[in-house]
Amino acid sequence: MSVLLISGSPSAASRTVLLLDHLAGRLGRPATVLRLRDLPAEALLRGDTAHPELARATAQVAAADTIVVATPIYKASYTGLLKAFLDVLPQGAFAGKTVVPIATGGTPAHLLAVDYALRPVLSVLGARHVTRGLFVLDTQIDPLAGELLPRIDALLEEVPLGAAA
Ligand SMILES: Cc1cc2nc3c(=O)[nH]c(=O)nc-3n(C[C@H](O)[C@H](O)[C@H](O)COP(=O)(O)O)c2cc1C
Repeated sequence: MSVLLISGSPSAASRTVLLLDHLAGRLGRPATVLRLRDLPAEALLRGDTAHPELARATAQVAAADTIVVATPIYKASYTGLLKAFLDVLPQGAFAGKTVVPIATGGTPAHLLAVDYALRPVLSVLGARHVTRGLFVLDTQIDPLAGELLPRIDALLEEVPLGAAA
């Protein structure tokens, strides 16, 4: 079993992905970053779960014991890209798994979106344990602000995903 870190950012140069790459490097466990923007858009929007690339992504979810779900905040919520992917996952896709909700955003005004928008949909998918959320301002990611490190370490210890570097 491994850790799967899912990015719901549509951006080619994504700060959310940079944050996930950093987290993956601190896990001390095998970890894979899944960029939803790389999935075939038509298959995703049409819910074509038989498409080989969607089937592969779904299998990656099934094979992970811990899933980090990270999204940029768009219009005060998670992205449509993330929702499209969550919609093609089978019922109970997160059952028995630990799920870590993360959001990046341009304004602290929307930091609660992690809890009021993202957390409920993760629970509906059957997550055994949804950890505390992490909200990170886009200006804190590249380069990673030093003040973020204690928050990231505290999150990694809470899950627990493994020792931080
Ligand atoms: C279409 C769009 C809508 C956005 N809406 C919000 C918003 O409502 N609240 C917010 O805090 N940031 C908002 N942002 C800023 C992004 O959430 C933020 O820059 C994020 O870190 C981008 O992540 P990415 O580089 O991985 O795509 C928006 C950005 C875009 C492109």
